[in-house]
Formats: sequence, C-alpha cells, structure tokens
Amino acid sequence: MSPILEINDLKNKARRRVPKMFFDYADSGSWTESTYHANESDFAKIKLRQRIAVDMTNRSLKTQMVGQDVAMPVALAPTGLTGMQHADGEILAAQAAEEFGIPFTLSTMSICSIEAVAEKTKKPFWFQLYVMKDKDFIGNLIDRAKAAGCSALVLTLDLQILGQRHKDLRNGLSAPPKFTPKHIYQMATRPLWCLGMLKTKNHTFGNIVGHAKGVSDLSSLSSWTAEQFDPQLNWKDVEWIRERWGGPIILKGILDVEDARMAAQTGADAIIVSNHGGRQLDGAPSSIEVLPSIVDAVGDQIEVHMDGGIRSGQDVLKAKCLGAKGTYIGRPFLYGLGADGKAGVAKALDIIRTELDVTMALCGKRDINDLDRSIIYPPEGLQNTRSWG
Ligand SMILES: Cc1cc2nc3c(=O)[nH]c(=O)nc-3n(C[C@H](O)[C@H](O)[C@H](O)COP(=O)(O)O)c2cc1C
Repeated sequence: MSPILEINDLKNKARRRVPKMFFDYADSGSWTESTYHANESDFAKIKLRQRIAVDMTNRSLKTQMVGQDVAMPVALAPTGLTGMQHADGEILAAQAAEEFGIPFTLSTMSICSIEAVAEKTKKPFWFQLYVMKDKDFIGNLIDRAKAAGCSALVLTLDLQILGQRHKDLRNGLSAPPKFTPKHIYQMATRPLWCLGMLKTKNHTFGNIVGHAKGVSDLSSLSSWTAEQFDPQLNWKDVEWIRERWGGPIILKGILDVEDARMAAQTGADAIIVSNHGGRQLDGAPSSIEVLPSIVDAVGDQIEVHMDGGIRSGQDVLKAKCLGAKGTYIGRPFLYGLGADGKAGVAKALDIIRTELDVTMALCGKRDINDLDRSIIYPPEGLQNTRSWG
C-alpha cells in the first residue's frame, strides 16, 4: 500500500472507499466545472520567494479567527451530507478538528444533527445557516445552535438557488440512498462503508427531518432546495439573523468587491471570499483571484477569510499572504473522512500543517501572523492581482 503523503492520496483512497454517488457529490462543480478547477489551478500560478540564511527556529502557526484561538488559520468548511462520506461523518470530523485545535463548521444540510454533534464533542463548534422561506424554522435552528453552545454562525449567502451539478443528476443522488440496482451495486462494492452505515442511525438530514414543518423525507435534495430555500434573501435578513444569533457571525459567499462593501456594513465579524467551491456560478473567478481586491477594499473594516481550491499548506500560506486572516477546507477533509474516518481528517490536517510550516520556513518567516505579499510573486494573467505592490 502506498503511503499517504498529500491530499491527493486521500482523494484516491476515498474514491475506493466511498460509493460513487457520494464521492462524486464531493468531487464536482456546477456545469462545466470551470470555476471548480480554477480555484485549484490559480493557486499554482502564484510563486513563492525563496529566502536563505534566515533563522527558522521557534516557528508558530497559531493565530485567531473571529477572536478565537486556532492552531493554524484553517477551519473545516460546512459541507452537506458529510455523514454520507463516512458513517457519523460530522461527529468524526468535529472530533478531529477539536483535537487539532481548529474550528469545525456544521452545515444546515448535515446528516448528524446539531445536538448529535454537540453530544459527542467537548469544545464549541461553528454552525452554518442557509436561509429558508420558513422563518420559524430558521429561528429555531439558530436557537438550537445557541443551545448547543456553537461559538460562531456562518451565514451562507450564495445558494438561494442550486447550481446544477451534472454528476448528482446522473447518479440520482439522495440521502438516504435509493435502493435501485445501480445504487445497490455502488454500495455493495464498498463493504466497509456499508458496515459503518449499519451501525449508525444517522442516515438523513438530522437538522431538518422532524424539525421543519411537513418534512418527513428529504430524499431529493435538489427539489427540496428549490422549494424551501428563500429566493428573496436580502441584506435585511442578515440584520435580523445577526440580532437573533447575538454572537460572532461570518458571511459566506462573497466574491465581488461591491458585495464585500455591503457585507462590511452589516456589523458582521467576518466575510468568507468563496464561490462555494465552484458549485454555484460556473464561470465566476476563483476565490484566490478576487481575494486581494476584496482585502484592499474592506480588509481594514472586517476580517476577511477565504475558501476554495486549498489542497496544500502552500495554498493556505498564499491566501494568508494575500490578506486572508483565515481559510477553510472542504474537499480535503471530506477526502480524508471518506478514506479513513476521523484518522483520515486528522491526516489531512497534519499534511496541511506540515506543508504550511515548512513552506513558511523556506520563505524565511517564523510567525504565521507576519506573512504578507512580500514573499509571493504576483502571477501573470490573474486580472484582479495586477495592482499588487
Ligand atoms: C460536498 C460539498 C458540500 C457542501 N455543502 C455546503 C453547505 O452545506 N453549506 C455551505 O455553506 N457550503 C457548502 N459547501 C461549500 C464549502 O463550504 C466550501 O465553500 C468549499 O468546499 C470550499 O472549496 P474546497 O472544497 O475546494 O475547499 C459544500 C462543498 C462541498 C464540496
């Protein structure tokens, strides 16, 4: 068996362990997947400045995100159906993050409920909220997150209508999975996954089923999203949600300078520069491409975080250099989870930490909080970075 040395090794292992419909759910973007791929490839265009003969002892990756201590500037992004990559996936990922000392963000569309994750963890985690038409249900979700001791609310603003991901439609994705010959075959060829699923009761959307009015079965994610997500979401909603929540709030899905300026005026604590991992507006620029212009516009008013395309510690370093106070990883931890459960998530984090630490040293820096644009070369051909000093 070949050793696990990089995130791609975890991805390959997850492909062998997770039924195709769920592996594909993670490894997909909308329509042509151009934004999904640009998120990764634009990182590779940024080059690092090698420095020598600089003291590299006593290095530190410790910093803060929304005032909370983190072992490195990386949080686990909210991802729906995580409990379908591996049985009890949200609980295992939350435990791995807690042990590592970074935030775990539970999605509204999780399999394990807020309460189930809270019961199996010791430290507070973050909760991600989607805005639906049923405002009582949203208010109730916020109250449940508060009762569970969640220490930040991530409000996602870029998914009021679902970007089409061809693979999910072709695969007939649902949770729990359907029992058609195709789906039975996909599961039967992944026996360890099946064994795990037989041992848990968490098989469908734990935050929703039994809580939202009239919802007893959520087998079709896309039709439920189309019916329930509120297409009239606007900045006023951010206001009442922020008031109802009363704690640190992070606005997710900002990709445009104008929207960043609006977001900075809401009183939120942070924004996440994000295109939802290339799963919403295909053809939008990569997150790393727009990050510098958003930092330049609002970085002195609000904490700026980013996600999308991070596959290594080097990518985290580049985002930090460009002004992100924190980053999030989605697929890298999902691949770890699918490959090896909690140990796989821990492995993904360990890989990223080592890559980040060694890269920082080779660039002549010892403190993650000292990174700035001086140690990277502005890439040719990324239009939003032309103005780099
Ligand atoms: C399988 C999957 C499910 C996701 N589900 C959610 C979700 O429920 N809520 C949300 O705000 N973002 C969701 N996202 C987007 C992530 O939070 C994050 O923006 C994205 O994964 C970052 O890109 P990366 O996967 O390249 O790290 C999802 C992403 C993936 C890959």
